[in-house]
Amino acid sequence: MFDAKYWEQRWMEHGEFGTIGRASFSSWHYYRRGVEIYDAIREHLPSHCTCLIDYGCGAGRMTPYLLAHCDQYVGIEPNPEAADRAHDRFGMHNGVGFWMEPPVMGGGVEAIVFSMVMQHIVDDGELESLLKRCNKWLKPGGKIIALENTSNNDDAPHIKFRSCGTYCKLISDAALRCTPIAELRFDGERHTLFVATKEK
Ligand SMILES: C[S@@+](CC[C@H](N)C(=O)[O-])C[C@H]1O[C@@H](n2cnc3c(N)ncnc32)[C@H](O)[C@@H]1O
Repeated sequence: MFDAKYWEQRWMEHGEFGTIGRASFSSWHYYRRGVEIYDAIREHLPSHCTCLIDYGCGAGRMTPYLLAHCDQYVGIEPNPEAADRAHDRFGMHNGVGFWMEPPVMGGGVEAIVFSMVMQHIVDDGELESLLKRCNKWLKPGGKIIALENTSNNDDAPHIKFRSCGTYCKLISDAALRCTPIAELRFDGERHTLFVATKEK
């Protein structure tokens, strides 16, 4: 069972969270946002996965919440600074691993979470091939749960703003059944929650 009080205390102990790349966070903001994201996705996460991937896990904001849903947690993060932070926080222990590159996954994954990550993969071709690899990693009936920015904002050139329809097409092209679940606002911008399922 996820112990929110424990994690609240844990996050707050670290004080100022610091800076990763261009983004800076207070630990409070970082923690609260993690709670909000988890609240949005939790009902779509399988209650128990043998293996769950947190794709683009950053500094591990979602790690404690996702751990409660799986035996094996695989965090994939190409930014070494963020990956180090995640590793420092949660270590590499039984069932938890952080990787800069995906380890070879053999079709045994029940859930892949993208928490504000596809929006940073600006090249449609790269995202398309990643989604096809995700399809191979997933078990039949396995799911992608993705929360992505679908606003238009010219002030954020590091983010690729795709419409809900574009995400659905890219996901469907990877032979996954895509359902947009809800529109949610984070930091004043529209985000869409998608669930994509690999047919049995
Ligand atoms: C907004 S952060 C979200 C981090 C984390 N998912 C969370 O919710 O706290 C976006 C993350 O996506 C990662 N990212 C960007 N491009 C990526 C790619 N091609 N593959 C995997 N991760 C990527 C970044 O390094 C960054 O950690």
